[in-house]
Amino acid sequence: MRNPQLNAHGELNHLLTIEGLPREVLTRILDTATPFTEVAEREVKKVPLLRGKSVFNLFFENSTRTRTTFEIAAKRLSADVINLNINTSSATKGESLLDTVDNLAAMQADMFVVRHASSGAPHLIAQHLAATGREHIHVVNAGDGRHAHPTQGLLDMYTIRHYKQDFSNLTVAIVGDVLHSRVARSQIHALTTLGVPEVRVVAPKTLLPTGIERLGVRVFHDIGAGLRGADVVMTLRLQNERMQGALLPSTQEYFKSYGLTPERLARAKSDAIVMHPGPMNRGVEIDSAVADGSQAVILPQVTFGIAVRMAVMAMLGGA
Ligand code: CP
Repeated sequence: MRNPQLNAHGELNHLLTIEGLPREVLTRILDTATPFTEVAEREVKKVPLLRGKSVFNLFFENSTRTRTTFEIAAKRLSADVINLNINTSSATKGESLLDTVDNLAAMQADMFVVRHASSGAPHLIAQHLAATGREHIHVVNAGDGRHAHPTQGLLDMYTIRHYKQDFSNLTVAIVGDVLHSRVARSQIHALTTLGVPEVRVVAPKTLLPTGIERLGVRVFHDIGAGLRGADVVMTLRLQNERMQGALLPSTQEYFKSYGLTPERLARAKSDAIVMHPGPMNRGVEIDSAVADGSQAVILPQVTFGIAVRMAVMAMLGGA
C-alpha cells in the first residue's frame, strides 16, 4: 500500500509523520532547506515560491516555536498566512474539527498546518480531504498528542547534520520523558532512517513505552552509562500535561537522577552537542550551565526550523 503522505510519483503530498518515509525523502527535505538558510541573510527575506497560496495555521494546542516559525517560513515563501485563533473561533461553540476544516477549505485554503492534543488529528483531516476530493490541500502535522512532531524531528536532523556532517558513525542519546514525547518518536524514526548506528534512550522505566527497543534503540536507565561516548545529547521535557498518575516522586528527584548537569555531560564526547526541542524547564531536565553552555545548540535549532519548514512547505506546494 502506498504511504498516504506520498502521491503516485513518490512526492510528498502531506507531512504527517516521519515513520515510513524513505531516507531519500528525508534527505531531500534537508538538502532543500540548506539554501533557505541564506534567505534570512538577504535584505528582502522573501522568495516567491508560494506566492498566491493561502496557508492556514490551526493550533489547537499552545506553541511558541512551531507556530511562529511556520508563520515566518510561509511569509518568507510569500504565502498569505492565516492564523486561526482557536480560543476565539467557533470551535469553542462546539463546531467539530472537520466542520472547521470544511469551512476553511471553502475559503480556498492551500495548506493546513495543524497542532492538536489528539494523536491522529492531522491524519483525520488528510483522510477527510481525500475522501471529499480535496487532496490538493496539503496537511502538515505540527505536533499531534504523543504521536509525532515531524518538522521538529527534521529540524533536529538538520541541526545534527550541520554540526556533525554525517549520520553514519554517530551515537545519539535521547534523555527524558520518551513515553509522552511526540518529539522523541519523530527523532527516533528520523535517526534510524538516516542510518545512525547507535540511538539510545535514557529514562526511568516509568517514562519509557514498553517495547521501545523494537524501534531500533538501546535502553539505558543509568544516565552516566547512557551518555558515555555520545556525540549528540537530546534532552526532553517532562510532559506533565500528558501524564496520568504519579510517574515520578518529584521534579527535584528527577533532576537528581536524570537532570543534564555539566558533570553528567562530561561523560559524552568532549565535542558533543546538546539539543532541546523547547520549551525547557531549567533545573528539571537540564541545568542552566548546560542550557547556556558552549555545547548547547538549542537556539540554532530554532533558527534552522525556519529553513526546514520552508523546505517542507515549498515541496508540498510543488515549488
Ligand atoms: N518544540 C516545540 O514544539 O515547541 P513549541 O511547543 O513552542 O512549538
